[in-house]
Amino acid sequence: MPVPAPHTPQPAQLPAQAELFVRQFHDEQPAAGDPAARLRQVLGEIERTGTYRHTPAELAFGARVAWRNAARCIGRLYWRSLVVRDLRHVEEPAQVARECFAHLRAATNRGRIRPAVTVFAPDRPGRPGPQIVNAQLVRYAGYPAPGGGWTGDPAGAELAGQARGLGWPGGGGRFDVLPLMVQRQPGDAPRLFEVPADAVLEVELRHPQFGWFAELGLRWYAVPAISDMALEIGGVRYPAAPFNGWYMGTEIGARNLADAGRYNMLGEVARRMGLDMSSAGTLWQDRAVLEVNIAVLHSFRAAGVTMSDHHGESQRFLAHVAREARAGRPTPADWSWIVPPLSAALTPVYHRYYDPVDPGQRPAFVARGR
Ligand code: ARG
Repeated sequence: MPVPAPHTPQPAQLPAQAELFVRQFHDEQPAAGDPAARLRQVLGEIERTGTYRHTPAELAFGARVAWRNAARCIGRLYWRSLVVRDLRHVEEPAQVARECFAHLRAATNRGRIRPAVTVFAPDRPGRPGPQIVNAQLVRYAGYPAPGGGWTGDPAGAELAGQARGLGWPGGGGRFDVLPLMVQRQPGDAPRLFEVPADAVLEVELRHPQFGWFAELGLRWYAVPAISDMALEIGGVRYPAAPFNGWYMGTEIGARNLADAGRYNMLGEVARRMGLDMSSAGTLWQDRAVLEVNIAVLHSFRAAGVTMSDHHGESQRFLAHVAREARAGRPTPADWSWIVPPLSAALTPVYHRYYDPVDPGQRPAFVARGR
């Protein structure tokens, strides 16, 4: 008997999870007809091989419902239009990396960003799938500065250290795109792949009124693509399934560039604005963070790169909740993730609560752990 990989969902639960999924697939898509024949096929395949293969239609449906089930995501209105790239035959790190770069190019779409997921080989009995070490396909390196403090993104420091340990030179800059690190299976030494420049669209940040803002030399990448979560569908686990949407401005303007533990830019912005920084009570941070967000939205719009603001995205989320209710489905949501980190109470999502989250709900994107 082959020994299952540590993360493979328990074989004992597989038939039940597979059945639940196949029934859901047929329930939600009456055109798929009666599930009985497919169920017999799936259960037989599990008995013979210890696993089963999703049809392309099941895979696409499963990935889209995994997005629909993502309780922390405010952008779920368009879950049906997720582009699903079926790369289940790919498991070698070099090929995984190449397809991740193809994903970035396709998702970027010259600025008209398309939400997409690329699904690589699943875990199978005795043969775990590949996995991506990076938290996102594109992220900036962080380097601890000699006198304390940081160069670059502190959130990319651990990975930069790991990459350097594997021979990555590391540019020492503020916005160095980290190399992609791919493992053939958990426990293997990651292989390192430089992300080609033509796969990464970036936007230089400027402010519509403050000319000095461009001198800060800030930029951000166009496509947020989460790569360290596993996709679980009907008891089958896909450990490498990078997915992307587009950015909401506050992710960059109120967190990545503003957090004290990230680019920590509010002090410098406030100084340039000439604000009274003698105490937090002058609200200098609040005024600075607002202008950073204005610059982010302005720059992406001027560059023709898809980005939403927190007002529009909040409205769309409530439209999604209403549409799901009409379909007879709850919309589990995590209030603390849905509510934007800027002007929270100005958005309608702040003023209500949501259906409780069931961590066991599937299909789902799940934290992969290490
Ligand atoms: N908040 C993360 C970041 O700033 C990205 C998370 C996913 N965001 C998205 N809009 N799909 O990089």
